Amino acid sequence: MPSTADRISALKRERNAVILAHNYTSADIQELADYVGDSLGLSMKSAGTDADVIVFCGVSFMGETAKILSPGKTVLLPEPEARCAMASMCTAEQIRLAKARNPGAAVVGYVNSTAESKCEMDVCCTSSNAVAVARSLGDREILFVPDGNLGAYVASETGRSVILWDGFCPVHHSITVRHVEALKAKFPGAAVIAHPECRPEVLRLADATGSTERMVSLAGEAGTDDVIVLTESGMRRRLEAAHPGKRFHFPEHAVCMTMKMIEPASVLHALETGEGEVVLDAEVLKRAYEPVKRMTELAG
Ligand code: 13P
Ligand code: SF4
Repeated sequence: MPSTADRISALKRERNAVILAHNYTSADIQELADYVGDSLGLSMKSAGTDADVIVFCGVSFMGETAKILSPGKTVLLPEPEARCAMASMCTAEQIRLAKARNPGAAVVGYVNSTAESKCEMDVCCTSSNAVAVARSLGDREILFVPDGNLGAYVASETGRSVILWDGFCPVHHSITVRHVEALKAKFPGAAVIAHPECRPEVLRLADATGSTERMVSLAGEAGTDDVIVLTESGMRRRLEAAHPGKRFHFPEHAVCMTMKMIEPASVLHALETGEGEVVLDAEVLKRAYEPVKRMTELAG
């Protein structure tokens, strides 16, 4: 009986499929993926692939973004119910109301949002290019949705006027100053790197901040063998593979349960049955394309 990994490889060839996985997925998913990366890297890969089928191992907004960029391709989500909690913290209707209250503001939307919400944005961004996207808008006031922490980070890095939404990532928002101080006491002298979805007071304790992909290089640039990593623990695999001599310390509770729903068996099932296909309304696909495309044009 061939293994799950062998059956996945055979089906991938048969269906001309590519497997993309986010840095927070479990190690066994990362091992079978063709590419593992952050939201911007994954969006670029999905836009540039020759494959007919994209199997997206990530939360649902990631598969939707791939479909918006490549509407002619089949995008499969092995676990379609795996959703980002932050994406549901702002609806398209709420953005329309906020735009009416702030008519001069440019709407910058974090990619961690629904496809319908993206239709109301001027430009999307990821954690890796949020600052560059804000800078590209000149002096215009910015309405930043849905992540209040990332919006505050953009404001502090650019000096721009940013209207903040009250959304947040439950995983990153749950990391507090107390957790960071406890890790620092346990690993004195360790460098601290953080994801910009963390609270502002937590980011102030970090030596460097960046997207999950940027964290791989930040860990290398850190002058210490012990590195405190303020993000989801799925990052451990990438960091340990890239920097074998270093030791990485995470806040133990920082786990995104929906990312961990995706298992090799779900990937196999998606490839065997074609279930979990991302289907978006034609009007949504059309309206969301521009802001998402602009996002891919502005590197971090
Ligand atoms: P990155 O784009 O930095 O990988 O972040 C995605 C995400 O969901 C972080 O919580
Ligand atoms: Fe969403 Fe947070 Fe999970 Fe990232 S870690 S997918 S922002 S809930």
